[in-house]
Amino acid sequence: MKEQEFLDSIENLSGKVAIVTGGAKGIGLETTVYLASKGATVYVAARKSEGTQAGIDEARQRVKSLFSDSSNNDEKVKYHELDLSSMQDAWRSAQKFKKIERKLDILICNAGVSMTTLQALSPDGYEQMFAVNHLGHFAFVTCLLDIIKDAAEDTQDGRIIFTGSDSYKSAKKLDYEKLVTAQPDDGKSLKDLGGAWMRYTESKLAIVYSTIEFSNRLQNSDLPKIYLNACHPGNAIGTTLGTGNQASVSPTLERAIRSLLSITIGNSTKDSAKTQIYLAGSKTIKEKSIHGENWQPYFSAFGKTYKGCGSQEYTPLGKDEGERRKLWKVTVDALKKAVGDNEVNSIETLKKLINEGSE
Ligand SMILES: NC(=O)c1ccc[n+]([C@@H]2O[C@H](COP(=O)([O-])OP(=O)(O)OC[C@H]3O[C@@H](n4cnc5c(N)ncnc54)[C@H](OP(=O)(O)O)[C@@H]3O)[C@@H](O)[C@H]2O)c1
Repeated sequence: MKEQEFLDSIENLSGKVAIVTGGAKGIGLETTVYLASKGATVYVAARKSEGTQAGIDEARQRVKSLFSDSSNNDEKVKYHELDLSSMQDAWRSAQKFKKIERKLDILICNAGVSMTTLQALSPDGYEQMFAVNHLGHFAFVTCLLDIIKDAAEDTQDGRIIFTGSDSYKSAKKLDYEKLVTAQPDDGKSLKDLGGAWMRYTESKLAIVYSTIEFSNRLQNSDLPKIYLNACHPGNAIGTTLGTGNQASVSPTLERAIRSLLSITIGNSTKDSAKTQIYLAGSKTIKEKSIHGENWQPYFSAFGKTYKGCGSQEYTPLGKDEGERRKLWKVTVDALKKAVGDNEVNSIETLKKLINEGSE
């Protein structure tokens, strides 16, 4: 598919407000540039660092170069501080955002970590990938629900996208005892490496469950105009995802593995942003009322040419209703513990989702 053809498949997003978590790096940076180039005001929600600032500068520069009138284009890409490793921090970040913007049209939950060790748990007492990839995002999204609902009521079109991963297909059933237990695992052995990969796949299985359950509850709570979906972005081997966390993999070995993967199954980082952009900005999603689906990109052989994207069937474990509901309960309980019942109940939309949304 030609670049222009892809761009034409995305609506004009002028006047829309978007957030991209982890939007200053890798797939997130490309996502920020696409959304801003289609006219949205994009908040890069990320941890404060030189890398984040450099990513924002790059995004602003690239967006500016796309418009002949560059007067206001710096303002299209903004920064909002977010650390997803703690539910309380993610919740506070969302609360601060609501003081800046009254409506939110598009939320892309793209940030993620991979291959972390299991020596230390998150501030909420959970395994770190599960904490950042699933729990932190859950707190952030749920606190923003009321302003996403307000935007959707205005435009009949709100979008929430979870960046998942096809790796979830290798995950085993979630073991909640293990998820709250640290281990003397320092990433120095191949066993640690295998364990880290499995935990990553489990954090992405959690995203599958969250996508389906969250979406069902939105429908059951009379919020059908919020289109919540997930995607596997592609194999963007060139990003920093998972690098440097496992001591058993030397930088030289890591480079060699990445080069091999890049040649065989790798896609460009830019192409890997396209599926979430499509879910966020194509009118097809609204016209066909697409909810709770998991999409994937299609590529030519060896992943070098992007050919579009589409829905894919969930695995039997991904479709397991009992497991999905168990995760929802564990997650809501963790959120209540982290921020308190009063805070959770203060968001009317969330309260409704929890109390009435299940059926
Ligand atoms: N690359 C692939 O082939 C691939 C395949 C399947 C799925 N994915 C998924 O795609 C998404 C983007 O990955 P990527 O490849 O672009 O990786 P990346 O370049 O490493 O970007 C990850 C982003 O997540 C942010 N992040 C990490 N921990 C965070 C935290 N505690 N709070 C807030 N932000 C945090 C990072 O910010 P910092 O700079 O602060 O660390 C960074 O911006 C991830 O969800 C990943 O699981 C990627």
